[in-house]
Amino acid sequence: MCGIVGYVGHRPACEVVIGALRRMEYRGYDSAGIALVNDYGTLTVRRRAGRLVNLESALDEAEGTALRGHCGVGHTRWATHGRPTDRNAHPHSDAAVKIAVVHNGIIENHAELRRELEADGVRFGSDTDTEVAVHLVARHYQHGPTAGDFERSVFAVLRRLEGHFTLVFANADEPGKVVAARRSTPLLLGVGDGEMFVSSDVAAFIEYTRDAVELGQDQAVVITAEGYRITDFDGVATDVGWRTFHVDWDLSAAEKGGYEYFMLKEIAEQPSAVANTLVGHFVDGRIVLDEQRLTDQDLREVDKVFIVACGTAYHSGLLAKYAIEHWTRLPVEVELASEFRYRDPVLDRSTLVIAISQSGETADTLEAVRHAKEQKAKVLAICNTNGSQIPRECDAVLYTRAGPEIGVAATKTFLAQIAANYLVGLALAQARGTKYPDEVEREYRELEGIPELVARVLDNIEPVAALARQFALSSTVLFLGRHVGYPVALEGALKLKELAYLHAEGFAAGELKHGPLALIEDGLPVIVVMPSPKSSPVLHAKLVSNIREIQARGAMTIVIAEESDETVRPYADYLVEIPSVSMLFQPLLSTVPLQVFAASLAKAQGYDVDKPRNLAKSVTVE
Ligand code: M6R
Repeated sequence: MCGIVGYVGHRPACEVVIGALRRMEYRGYDSAGIALVNDYGTLTVRRRAGRLVNLESALDEAEGTALRGHCGVGHTRWATHGRPTDRNAHPHSDAAVKIAVVHNGIIENHAELRRELEADGVRFGSDTDTEVAVHLVARHYQHGPTAGDFERSVFAVLRRLEGHFTLVFANADEPGKVVAARRSTPLLLGVGDGEMFVSSDVAAFIEYTRDAVELGQDQAVVITAEGYRITDFDGVATDVGWRTFHVDWDLSAAEKGGYEYFMLKEIAEQPSAVANTLVGHFVDGRIVLDEQRLTDQDLREVDKVFIVACGTAYHSGLLAKYAIEHWTRLPVEVELASEFRYRDPVLDRSTLVIAISQSGETADTLEAVRHAKEQKAKVLAICNTNGSQIPRECDAVLYTRAGPEIGVAATKTFLAQIAANYLVGLALAQARGTKYPDEVEREYRELEGIPELVARVLDNIEPVAALARQFALSSTVLFLGRHVGYPVALEGALKLKELAYLHAEGFAAGELKHGPLALIEDGLPVIVVMPSPKSSPVLHAKLVSNIREIQARGAMTIVIAEESDETVRPYADYLVEIPSVSMLFQPLLSTVPLQVFAASLAKAQGYDVDKPRNLAKSVTVE
């Protein structure tokens, strides 16, 4: 939530900052703003409600010299405190318009700090929690022991703030310097040649450098064109807690590459997202994870598994339950991270908690991880973002190597998560001896064949897009599935809700007669995810009966079924065929038409597929 950037170097800061915001707009798009310090020591702030394009138009009209300069900060906002208006847009500045700040996160003690500042005569220009930070820095910079010392003024304020935040400050008196700090929200440093960047995401600076530094908890960094200094909140330089890394993807991965929108590109990238996630994880006949700080003995001691995640990642967790229980005979509970944390779950040293998160930043999931660690459980992360907080705090990590996902709706990372979850299941089965090595290898080899099959589904996807356009005016779409088809139904419904803003619900088909059947009426589109007639004939027969029941009540059935499935054909008003695979792997194929259905329907409605209203990619508030 919120993308922030700071730059010092030899390029025009305005261009660098706007380019960075363009690539981070997926993090929030309620408003955008920029503060530039020109070479004559003048701070210019421009901010606009709405999309980045509004800010760009405002800049086009602005006077040239003010925007010239080589130091700046920028922000793209997902509103938490204060409505998404011009006045609440970041950057915020002090009364003298000398110091500017951009912020991601929440300053929890803002009300108390605001009262203190107001009692001191400070007048606020916004309703945000952020503004207190800049007035406090200005006060320290003007009076007392830190007067005239920009860095020490910032450190003094950082020590007073509660909550989670990344803050980036610029100061008109120091045109060649930016000071940034983080607690529990991301802050990355891009190390260029004669230029430095700070940002929420490497996408902000990938055009200029792939050398990055991930800052540690409660660390600050001072950047100039020539270098950087990492400190704690007392300003004491530290060489622990942060790490350098090289970004292994380039600018093209963060651009549309000829696709109309990112989601379409990301759907098309799914074969490589799954293939890359598998690469290097089967070595000498054994499954290996990435950062394995848990031994086989630790895995053998596990007697219960919890999976915690949110949204789409939660749906991938529901799928993991089927595989892990089947392969390891361990009981698995899957919980929404936001519920898990607050209900006092029974955890101990022999519990394994698996946290799944694309961003590695989701506040609910992070808090669930922290709670599990406090209870001494072992925690394993499945994450797509190198350098993010959740993997840092876990005992073992498996990275999904799906590459950057810009579309707010998760697509390729969902498939990559399923693959990663299955690798974890196989690693557990291997360590615990519940599967022989040749059985583990057989499952792995089938998984390895999935990318090619996903590509086949994609090759034949156009009829699904056309079908979605036909249903563009529907007000409700229902999804049905059984076994692993049930989480797929939930995911299909979530995609449609978030992209097309229509009522969509996923049901376990067996539950139909216990209530949802009452929703069926003439012409209502119902998407049914069929199990394989070969690998699960019993479930298949039951679902055929369910289809007949809804068809008899007037539903329009859109059926996702295996290519050879002749029995279901007579009951499908529309049939979408997918290749035949083992039951557990079918979601990797059956999800794809549902993603395309949602994206195409939303597009037909004229909605912004990559940036659905009210949402943001990374949810860093609880
Ligand atoms: O970054 P995370 O995987 O932790 O995010 C979890 C959810 O916010 C996310 O999956 C969300 O549900 C997607 N936008 C749905 O498409």
